[in-house]
Amino acid sequence: MSSIYIRGGYCLNGEVDIQGAKNAALPIMAASLLNKGIVCLRRCPQISDVRYMCRLLEQMGARIETDGDRLILNAKEIDPIEISALDAGKMRSSVLLLGPLMGRKMEVLMPYPGGCTIGARPVDWHIEALQQMNVQVSMTEEGIYCRTQGIKGAKIVLSYPSVGVTENVILAAVLAEGRTEIVNAAMEPEIEDLCRFLTAAGARIDGIGTNRIRITGVEQLHDVQYTIMADRIVAGTYMTAVAAAGGQAVLKGVQVRHVQSVADVLAESGCGLIICEESIKIIAPSVLLGVKNIQTQPYPGFPTDMQSQMMACLCGAHGESSITENIFENRFKIVPELLRMGADISVKGQSAVIRGSTKLHGERVTARDLRGGAALVAAGLSAEGTTIVQECEYISRGYVDLCGDLCSLGACISEGQ
Ligand code: EPZ
Repeated sequence: MSSIYIRGGYCLNGEVDIQGAKNAALPIMAASLLNKGIVCLRRCPQISDVRYMCRLLEQMGARIETDGDRLILNAKEIDPIEISALDAGKMRSSVLLLGPLMGRKMEVLMPYPGGCTIGARPVDWHIEALQQMNVQVSMTEEGIYCRTQGIKGAKIVLSYPSVGVTENVILAAVLAEGRTEIVNAAMEPEIEDLCRFLTAAGARIDGIGTNRIRITGVEQLHDVQYTIMADRIVAGTYMTAVAAAGGQAVLKGVQVRHVQSVADVLAESGCGLIICEESIKIIAPSVLLGVKNIQTQPYPGFPTDMQSQMMACLCGAHGESSITENIFENRFKIVPELLRMGADISVKGQSAVIRGSTKLHGERVTARDLRGGAALVAAGLSAEGTTIVQECEYISRGYVDLCGDLCSLGACISEGQ
């Protein structure tokens, strides 16, 4: 297991290009199965979750070429009957393969996607939605067996605006017979990006970016080239890193509306923000101020994927902060690690109170999940002394080069065994 070494106390300065979005790339790669031809993706992040997804697609017979952040996929001949339990269990996003495979009228045995450290993450809503679209599902010992004689459009009313369920329904509906309407759809920008990709490939989708999406089934899709959106969570992570370490930085390529809720919290904590067309400049204050009642919500609310990073950033703020996690049941795993660094945090149920103005000190800490690992790196930037973040493989699931990017901004950081 490799570790990241951070020597705290160095301000960040400079500019960095933001990588492609993990949570757009994964559903778009799954969507490539809907086209019996060539899909060319640009700004596809070279992260381990993308490599897992490539392996799953290749196991089914898809042909994939990679050239840096360009991915060329050919899903003309695929036979998915059994998806490898090994890889599918490693990554939640494997559940997104169900929609397109059903769209191509194939049968598939999908191993139960493993829960992960942030929660049980069941797939019951995915199954219920697909069953409404003429998919027969049986839960076997080996996994979820799905087949269909053909997807039929339906009106799907979501009890909760689930990102993955919204994506799976869209993927199943694109080649369906008839029209599908999703009511109470999730509105995350990654879903908008998926819809723009599908539209560019010939799909008929209305209501893109809203909570009411209508898809009219088409006979087939055609070859397409597409550039994936910039990763708003990576951009948000770097914003909290600058706020925690001090200094200023320009984050290039990100759409500002995608990080507005994060920018609002950082502005309330005293950061300066200069907004341009597709970049944001953040200027850290000499002292951060605490921010109360931060609530994680579906987009456009404050993202759950930024909760750990904001907590780490506010540990050194003057005054009290409070964060409530409303999306996942077990997403405070970073707290014990921050306490060891000298933070003053108390957790009650799904809420955490952070009493700031304690200077963190460097420690050997352990990443327990993707975003928590990145948050510990941000904490190390502001701590006195050296912090070692162990098990940083979690971080490479979603960040192409966290160390390299922070180093280019002036951080004293390196990766090793
Ligand atoms: C997506 O996960 C993201 N992953 C997550 O990012 C993100 O945290 C989450 O959306 C919320 O924004 C990808 O896009 C690959 P949900 P997803 O369905 O689709 C419950 C990261 O760090 N639920 O909106 O799984 C679920 O347990 C990752 O990049 C059910 O109960 O999120 C959770 O409590 C972490 N039954 C809530 O809904 C279901 O069938 C929200 O989940 C499905 C979900």
